[in-house]
Amino acid sequence: MTATSAIDHLEELAEQFRRQVSEVTDRQGWEALRLQWVGRKQGRLRDLMGRMKDIPADARRTYGQAVNRLKVDVESGLQALEESLATASEAEAQSDVLDITLPGRRPQLGTLHPVTQVMREIESIFAELGYSVAEGPEIEDDYHNFEALNFPLDHPARETQDTFFFDNGMLLRTHTSPVQVRTMLERSAPPIRVICPGRVFRNDNDLRHSPMFHQVEGLAIGEGLSLGDLKGTLEAFIQRLFSADTGVRLRPSFFPFTEPSAEVDITCPFCSGNGCAVCSNTGWMEILGCGMVDPRVLSGCGIDPDRYSGYAFGLGIDRVAMIRYGIPNIRLLFDNDERLLRQIRV
Ligand code: FA5
Ligand code: MG
Repeated sequence: MTATSAIDHLEELAEQFRRQVSEVTDRQGWEALRLQWVGRKQGRLRDLMGRMKDIPADARRTYGQAVNRLKVDVESGLQALEESLATASEAEAQSDVLDITLPGRRPQLGTLHPVTQVMREIESIFAELGYSVAEGPEIEDDYHNFEALNFPLDHPARETQDTFFFDNGMLLRTHTSPVQVRTMLERSAPPIRVICPGRVFRNDNDLRHSPMFHQVEGLAIGEGLSLGDLKGTLEAFIQRLFSADTGVRLRPSFFPFTEPSAEVDITCPFCSGNGCAVCSNTGWMEILGCGMVDPRVLSGCGIDPDRYSGYAFGLGIDRVAMIRYGIPNIRLLFDNDERLLRQIRV
């Protein structure tokens, strides 16, 4: 190699280095470039210095200066590149760059609580049957929760509803029946057809009983309403809410505000009626209480019992949700564990 062609070659190398610099986009590329040019063992510059002995003596000085210039250019080029990469990566970290090549993140959709879902379904079934929705307060007085419903002060029936009392004599309503009373007092002109959904409270706690739970009250008042109307309404409702093959039974029962009274059971879905821990080995699960509104309650609420009659029912919504979704412990409904809530979507 002549001295001139060796020096021309250095110019080509300088050009090549500049091209490589323009192509580096990250720290790894920079490191590879550094090793290729100024690496101690195989770096190009070291190699070029090593060729000095092949250059004719009179051209060595010129060649040496050219190699040095190249070395300075390469070193300052590498340093500038390193700085610009550092600034770029810092800017990127700060600007929260959107990487459109990443797989999308699926949004976690919320759902209505199972109790709310069942409540809405019940409301829509009764809306089709011509019922409207009424509401009342969760903190009640003794009059609406008990007295107007024909529970005299010392009546033992009060003990069937373990009540949470406040110091001032008010109480947490133990059922939605006080809304019946409020509705009749407000609208003394039948016909009346309402349902009253809401939270109720009792000092109760086991697999099927929670201290806070939900009921829907139903009330129909009109001329000539009979037990047959009550039964027909409940059957139509239960058939729509559950499947047609769900066993239903009416059991004579007692409520101070209805006469006659009944409780309605459906076959326990956990054991298909064979008996299990959830149904206390009875094979049945109680879902509602009902009856014909007692004439004393009607007249106490300003409705003439000689002209009008009516029926009422009170359904446990949480029980329906347990049956519907196969939840064996009522508590699971109120723990708000997302693993359970996520499974129940409509
Ligand atoms: C009543 O509360 C009456 N007010 C129902 C009624 C209304 C009768 C109108 C006649 C006319 P009972 O205490 O049985 O009745 O409760 C009704 C329903 O609420 C039960 O069938 C059951 O499904 C549900 N229930 C009762 N206690 C609890 C509880 N602690 N946790 C969850 N559900 C309950
Ligand atoms: Mg009961």
